[in-house]
Amino acid sequence: MYRDPSVFPDPDLLDLQRNARLHVSFGYGVHQCLGQPLARMELQVAYPALLRRIPTLALATEVEPIPFKHDGFVYGAYELPVTW
Ligand code: HEM
Repeated sequence: MYRDPSVFPDPDLLDLQRNARLHVSFGYGVHQCLGQPLARMELQVAYPALLRRIPTLALATEVEPIPFKHDGFVYGAYELPVTW
């Protein structure tokens, strides 16, 4: 569902402005993540602080060779080379 074009137009595009209210990043239903409000607050604090402290932070590689976890329960990158 997370890449379902009937739910998210152009689902493979990273669009940080998209109004993605129906995503299931924190699960759904009775087992929906209990830590969701804490996680949201931490990210709202951590990302601006990181970019404020290290304004030159950038990817140290092209996006293409970054190995992503298509094989696990929790999605993400195996490694993310950065430079600053
Ligand atoms: C970005 C951070 C996080 C993500 C993406 C996330 C994601 C999820 C997901 C997808 C589930 C549902 C798993 C399922 O359906 O069985 C879940 C459950 C849960 N999460 Fe999180 N989580 C995050 C952070 C946290 C934090 C910070 C806490 C606690 C401080 C937390 C506590 C829990 C608990 C207790 C459950 C089990 C709820 C239940 O089964 O009733 N999570 N989380």
